Amino acid sequence: MTWDTTAASGVPGPVAGALDETRDKFVPLAAPATASVPPLRLRAPSVDPDDALVIDPPAVLAPMAGVTNAAFRTLCYEQGAGLAICEMVTAQSLVAGDNRSAQMMAFWDGEPVRSVQLYGTDPACLDVAIGIAIESLGAQHIDLNFGCPVPKVTRRGGGGVLAWKLDLMRAILRASVRSADRFGVPVTVKTRIGIDDDHTTFLDLLRVAQDEGVAAVCLHARTVAQAYSGAAHWDAIGQAVAAVDIPVLGNGDIWEAGDALAMIARTGCAGVEVGRGALGRPWLFHDLADALHGRPDTELPTLGQVCALVRRHAELLVRLMGERHGMADFRKHPAWYFKGFPLGGELRHALAMVSSLDELDALLAQLDPSVPFPAAELGRPRGRQGSPRTKVAMPYGWLDDRCGLDLDLSDAEGDVSGG
Ligand SMILES: Cc1cc2nc3c(=O)[nH]c(=O)nc-3n(C[C@H](O)[C@H](O)[C@H](O)COP(=O)(O)O)c2cc1C
Repeated sequence: MTWDTTAASGVPGPVAGALDETRDKFVPLAAPATASVPPLRLRAPSVDPDDALVIDPPAVLAPMAGVTNAAFRTLCYEQGAGLAICEMVTAQSLVAGDNRSAQMMAFWDGEPVRSVQLYGTDPACLDVAIGIAIESLGAQHIDLNFGCPVPKVTRRGGGGVLAWKLDLMRAILRASVRSADRFGVPVTVKTRIGIDDDHTTFLDLLRVAQDEGVAAVCLHARTVAQAYSGAAHWDAIGQAVAAVDIPVLGNGDIWEAGDALAMIARTGCAGVEVGRGALGRPWLFHDLADALHGRPDTELPTLGQVCALVRRHAELLVRLMGERHGMADFRKHPAWYFKGFPLGGELRHALAMVSSLDELDALLAQLDPSVPFPAAELGRPRGRQGSPRTKVAMPYGWLDDRCGLDLDLSDAEGDVSGG
């Protein structure tokens, strides 16, 4: 089977839409306006179905390195996200007691679910890491990431190319599910379609995941070769849904609530994970919650309402990291929040340099709160996109067999930066 990695071939991509002038709202043409989508139920094998972890709405903040810390997760939960997954941590670093990993896994009391994303290449190490995540850090959900497209990781057999080694993947998933099941914690898996068009892995991996007791899978409907470029191939999500009985979450190119409805209608997926679409738009989860709960459309935020979220985000980051580091971390966000608003270059520049909450307040006070949301931004891609790889870096002979059980991939855990 091959996947065309260009957007223009009838392959599903983001849904075309139109502006409803009367309500100033993007209405995707191919999607119902609302749907009643049942909650997602995540269950470890030994747990009674009635005691499953309930994710309602099934709208998940996808893990994003450098973004989905406790501050942003809290903001997204406040807006209505059903689940918000932590930035990825490697099993090795957790087992080694690395300070930064522990910091990245800081959870706040108000978070409804403590959801940890781990990446590992060694079943024994993951077994220990999962024990630490649950016992010491209170994780209630473990997500395993096999999607990183970064060449320095795939070159060593890690990230998104690891899924090719199916026997090793089975061992990894078996050890992980067993480890988490001791505590009744569900394990989910996040993966991509495959290495490239000619080397797809998702269907095999999903079947193995189901055999091994994985509670649900999330498919980022791109290949490693695509990285973040082109369109996500939503048809693959439909194939995944048809191939397994466990819930499949669809991921890739959801920019508006209507895109989520269209993805669900088109693929039958049990829910959605949203990454880049939430950058500077935590309120998207408000729209998603409304749409998936069958409530009528909500209004778009004015500039004043966006400013209130910006202030809240900064305040939460300061609480998490202290003012100096929190505001330094915050500086990447204004460009996303204010994309398309008429701010002027000087103010944009000042926001990108802001170093204290007082300074931020003074800058926000210069804005007219009644300015409407820039409707032209709706449905438009944001965040990382890049270009496809002509060749995915892999160890010599990697594609020759699909076993991998005899490999030592311990050096394929360094430098992993997401999915
Ligand atoms: C800045 C950034 C960091 C990311 N970090 C991770 C990560 O740590 N773990 C992971 O599984 N995926 C990571 N991803 C991938 C996203 O979770 C998601 O799969 C991808 O962006 C596609 O979904 P989207 O179209 O909704 O953005 C990252 C993506 C971005 C843009």
